[in-house]
Amino acid sequence: MSNSKTLLLFIIFCIFSSCYIPSPAIASDHDPSSKGFIHCLTKKSIPPWLIHTRSSSSYTSILKSSIRNPKFLNTTASATPLCIVMAKKTSHIQAAVVCGRRHRVRVRARSGGHDYEGLSYRAEDRRERFAVVDLSGMRSVRVDAARGTAWVQSGATLGELYHAIWSSAPRLGFAAGVCPTVGVGGHFSGGGFGMLQRKYGLAVDHVVNATLVDARGGLLGRDAMGEDLFWAIRGGGGGSFGIVASWHIKLVPVPPTVTVFDVVRTPEHGAIDVLTKWQEIAPRLPDDIMVRVIAEPRRVTFEAMYLGTCDELLPLMHHRFPDLAMTRADCNEMTWIESIPYIHLGSNATVADILNRSSISRVNTKNRSDYVRHPIPKSIWKKIFAKLQQLTNFGEVQLFIDPYGAKISRIHESATPFPHREGVLYNIQYITYWSGDANGTLALKWSRDLYKFMEPYGSKNPREAYANYRDLDLGRNKVVNGISSYHHGKVWGEKYFRGNFERLAKVKAKVDPDDYFRNEQSIPPLFE
Ligand SMILES: Cc1cc2nc3c(=O)[nH]c(=O)nc-3n(C[C@H](O)[C@H](O)[C@H](O)COP(=O)(O)OP(=O)(O)OC[C@H]3O[C@@H](n4cnc5c(N)ncnc54)[C@H](O)[C@@H]3O)c2cc1C
Ligand SMILES: *[C@@H]1O[C@H](CO)[C@@H](O)[C@H](O)[C@H]1NC(C)=O
Ligand SMILES: *[C@@H]1O[C@H](CO)[C@@H](O)[C@H](O)[C@H]1NC(C)=O
Ligand SMILES: *[C@@H]1O[C@H](CO)[C@@H](O)[C@H](O)[C@H]1NC(C)=O
Ligand SMILES: *[C@@H]1O[C@H](CO)[C@@H](O)[C@H](O)[C@H]1NC(C)=O
Ligand SMILES: *[C@@H]1O[C@H](CO)[C@@H](O)[C@H](O)[C@H]1NC(C)=O
Ligand SMILES: *[C@@H]1O[C@H](CO)[C@@H](O)[C@H](O)[C@H]1NC(C)=O
Repeated sequence: MSNSKTLLLFIIFCIFSSCYIPSPAIASDHDPSSKGFIHCLTKKSIPPWLIHTRSSSSYTSILKSSIRNPKFLNTTASATPLCIVMAKKTSHIQAAVVCGRRHRVRVRARSGGHDYEGLSYRAEDRRERFAVVDLSGMRSVRVDAARGTAWVQSGATLGELYHAIWSSAPRLGFAAGVCPTVGVGGHFSGGGFGMLQRKYGLAVDHVVNATLVDARGGLLGRDAMGEDLFWAIRGGGGGSFGIVASWHIKLVPVPPTVTVFDVVRTPEHGAIDVLTKWQEIAPRLPDDIMVRVIAEPRRVTFEAMYLGTCDELLPLMHHRFPDLAMTRADCNEMTWIESIPYIHLGSNATVADILNRSSISRVNTKNRSDYVRHPIPKSIWKKIFAKLQQLTNFGEVQLFIDPYGAKISRIHESATPFPHREGVLYNIQYITYWSGDANGTLALKWSRDLYKFMEPYGSKNPREAYANYRDLDLGRNKVVNGISSYHHGKVWGEKYFRGNFERLAKVKAKVDPDDYFRNEQSIPPLFE
């Protein structure tokens, strides 16, 4: 928007002041507390052009700007925000929380909008009254190359973070997710893992400080929040404890050359044998190598990144994983930053492509996850592939299978809320794709059947799941006397957090006893 236009809008706004909202398209714009909320925001100096109400012409495009899944574009299926505040400064986040509490409007933070259930911008209960605080305008990355640290704002994408690190310190990198459009805010809140996880662990394992807007609208650094709350925000899931404005992270060294390879096998030509062996080999390989698996009905891709050269990698693979039959021709040497577009976007993508924020996907998906602690027998893998092959009539499926072990498993289970550490062989993510509503019903039923079939092979008591792969089929909060019930929350909470769930709930009771930051799967308070 040009300056003169914004000025004009501002003048018009001031004339009609006390937030007169033109063209009352939707009743709730006139609902007194919504009006009061918006009036309060402007009195706290949030410029009007950063506030998009349902009757603003920009509302729909702003709402949809970071929606990833077409199924969530159907805004009649769930509650949409009363308004979206495009925060530019920390004080805007604070104002939204203070005004929200005063006028009984909850806020949901949206960083990258990649939540698997869309909880950063939609609510399942259509009566829910909430505003979105969108952080995509708060995305600076300040790298201190000499100290090997950076401050990154929550609205930055992983691609922007990686790019900024590389621009000022090419021998440093960061251990976080594979997809460059994922937002730092939600990702760090739930753990954050990717191709460097075996060498360095998760994103949260490298967070040394943060700034958080709490339930009273205060701004707290690590010292002011105290170690319990600082612990909770590093993996306890987004949307429960406050809104993290920025994160101070320790960067990690990357070598001048990394080697990436993809070895593809079909189920008819040994893929199931190799995969069965992979389960015991991949989690025990040296820290410098990660070999993950992408399983599809008719092919299995073993995709790897090694922190070193092809000459070093070949003898290692021949010695430790001969069945993969990897050869020199499979090696692709590059820099670490080049590996980001290469792995996620394909061999023709460039480093600049990781700055592209556009992220809408063409198809619908439903994702679920499991943690596996004991190898699955070959006979079962055969059955799994038979199931995958059934889906092709009405959808597609991929299993992303990420090996653990190494650094990720040497960190104690209670060091951060993320508990899937020692003893985990790998994480499986089941991704079911479909297009069209008619196929969706069938694909979702198939997805539920597969998850049920897998039950005996994943971890038990609890059956673990990754908090960042949010799955409302695991359970939802139930509100009892105005507060989310701990008892009901345990059902899904212990799957994500195991024994750490109780501590998270106690921290919640201390820092947000009124349960102001609440969504379908926020941490419920447990009062002692
Ligand atoms: C295409 C794709 C690829 C992915 N790849 C990986 C991967 O490689 N590794 C991995 O670990 N995960 C991966 N994920 C999962 C991803 O980590 C989570 O979906 C993550 O929560 C997304 O963060 P976001 O900021 O984009 O999401 P948002 O939708 O903005 O937020 C997610 C949740 O966190 C809350 N939240 C957002 N910002 C803040 C904040 N600043 N403070 C407090 N709470 C906040 C929201 O209210 C919401 O509840 C992937 C997801 C997608 C869609
Ligand atoms: C949107 O959701 C509503 C309510 O669930 C449903 O009736 C409608 O068919 C959906 N529209 C589309 C285009 O999917
Ligand atoms: C499921 O995961 C895939 C791969 O990471 C992603 O593209 C898709 O957006 C995810 N689904 C949802 C509902 O977010
Ligand atoms: C954390 O960051 C805040 C805000 O910059 C700062 O005031 C505080 O001293 C830092 N604390 C630690 C332990 O580094
Ligand atoms: C990369 O680009 C070349 C030349 O345009 C093309 O032939 C090739 O198919 C592309 N590869 C991929 C993986 O898209
Ligand atoms: C960004 O990505 C989208 C698709 O994901 C593509 O259509 C668009 O051309 C890309 N933009 C740039 C500038 O490369
Ligand atoms: C259902 O899936 C099939 C196969 O993928 C496809 O041809 C068909 O168009 C889809 N139907 C709808 C309604 O999207």
